[in-house]
Amino acid sequence: MNVISFEGFEYSGKSTQINLLKKYFKKNNIKCSFTREPGGNKDLEKIRKIILKSNFDNLSLILFFFASRFSLLSSIKPKNILVFDRFFDSTYAYQKYTLKDKNLILELIEQIDKKFIPKLTFYFKIDKKTLLKRKKQRGISNKFDKKYMGEFNRIQKNYNEMSKIKIYKRNFITIDASKTKEDIHQEVIKNIIKWKLIK
Ligand code: TYD
Repeated sequence: MNVISFEGFEYSGKSTQINLLKKYFKKNNIKCSFTREPGGNKDLEKIRKIILKSNFDNLSLILFFFASRFSLLSSIKPKNILVFDRFFDSTYAYQKYTLKDKNLILELIEQIDKKFIPKLTFYFKIDKKTLLKRKKQRGISNKFDKKYMGEFNRIQKNYNEMSKIKIYKRNFITIDASKTKEDIHQEVIKNIIKWKLIK
């Protein structure tokens, strides 16, 4: 199974790129499956609504996100290509404040079956200026995103840290999110070919 994950802050263009990749796979008759976190199946989408509306404390959030994650993984059948819209890096980026959080999250990542560890993770790194510009153009975000908006620097730093932590054999690819969507799409495809996820 070839697993790919997409990561990034709100307004990073992550969803746009996932949609472009979906179209690309369809056009080229490549069998694939897409999922998202939190959520990903019928029951977990209900839990998603609750989590994203919640005021849970951080430790509870870490455990909720991982509980939802393990449940999702146990429901997934082997695929040719499986694409995640957010995966464990999001928990590290958003819920890691202290060393204790860090150790707990890394320990939980260790518990993930290796077959689900992405071969490629695309992280769309956005700078504050681009973020604010896009926020102004697109308007309001959900409650959860609002909560983390003021923590941009911490989250960005956590993603940077994650880019340096080797998780099994995966390749963490940081992409400059201020580039055009066409350029980014080409970069995504180029890497998928380079790392032999498709021919
Ligand atoms: P979503 O509406 O999917 O946002 P986006 O379009 O930015 O992906 O909301 C997902 C939110 O959940 C987002 O703010 C990030 C957050 N999140 C965490 O904080 N930890 C996690 O482990 C995951 C999977 C998501």
